[in-house]
Amino acid sequence: MEAVAETAVESTSARAGTATVQNRYAKVVEVSKRIRWDIERDVIRGRDFDFGKKFLPDGLSLVNELNSMTPAERRFLSQIQGRTYANVFGLVERFIGAKVLEVSKEHWLGDQVALEALVRFTDEELKHQEMFRRLERMAAEGMPAGYDFKPQPNDVAGAVLSKSTWAVLGLTLDIELFTQAHYRASIEPDDELSALWKDVFLFHWKEESQHAILDELEWKRENARITPEQRDQAVTDLIELVAAVDGIVQAQAAADADYFVLQAGRTFSKSEQQAIRAGVLKAYRWQFIFSGVQDERFLAVLGSMITADQGARINAALASIVPAITH
Ligand SMILES: [Fe+2]
Ligand SMILES: [Fe+2]
Repeated sequence: MEAVAETAVESTSARAGTATVQNRYAKVVEVSKRIRWDIERDVIRGRDFDFGKKFLPDGLSLVNELNSMTPAERRFLSQIQGRTYANVFGLVERFIGAKVLEVSKEHWLGDQVALEALVRFTDEELKHQEMFRRLERMAAEGMPAGYDFKPQPNDVAGAVLSKSTWAVLGLTLDIELFTQAHYRASIEPDDELSALWKDVFLFHWKEESQHAILDELEWKRENARITPEQRDQAVTDLIELVAAVDGIVQAQAAADADYFVLQAGRTFSKSEQQAIRAGVLKAYRWQFIFSGVQDERFLAVLGSMITADQGARINAALASIVPAITH
């Protein structure tokens, strides 16, 4: 009798859990409809970037850690980094949109509210990509020639999507949480940024908040579906994805540092050039790797899924990147 009673309690709480999950999808759809924005009408509003102001705030660009730079040079470097920051989101949204469209299949003949939430998510990421392409054209018109955004969205998406869904959803939750953390902690409080650049990330943040809720729901669903062996392989995949992100970050940091040195309007000594290269790489690793893996919500979800050994493997992989940014 006791076992039956326990089963009854379990199924009641399972039903309550299902209802809670359904409510979360419904809430996402409701908020998504309410805050939906248009690129031209709501975000750009006929404006251009203010090139007399910074783009990326100091808390993300770390330009203040570079000694012997004038305020104008710091501003130019923050604009280069802000241009890359926008392009990185346009890049990752290619694989995020495709993966979300793929996992929506689990709901095609199931919960239609969940399906609507994921369709809206994909639609929003397509809109964001269009916005970031539009912004890149505007940045190109206002900045000196020679900037080169290295990674190609379809090449990166092809490599990422070859990994397990568990790993891709984990990386996606990480990205969509750090976009929000960056906005709240660094972008929103900074009054010295180009108004248009700042608004882009205000509007982006509003829609990303719903995406992170859905990433978490779908990641947990996938986590419950796979075997321990598959999860162990997925942890390896996630580590490989972080290494791939670091490869992209290294190439783009070098390209952006070179562009800065060529276009900043004066000669830099060898040691100054080295300091600029190291500073930009440190900033990009902070922006795209370390700020995300410190996020409490990300750590809580990841920690609930993996073993201590798997956690140690992830930490060791991250630690292998850290020494490179401390000198
Ligand atoms: Fe987005
Ligand atoms: Fe998103």
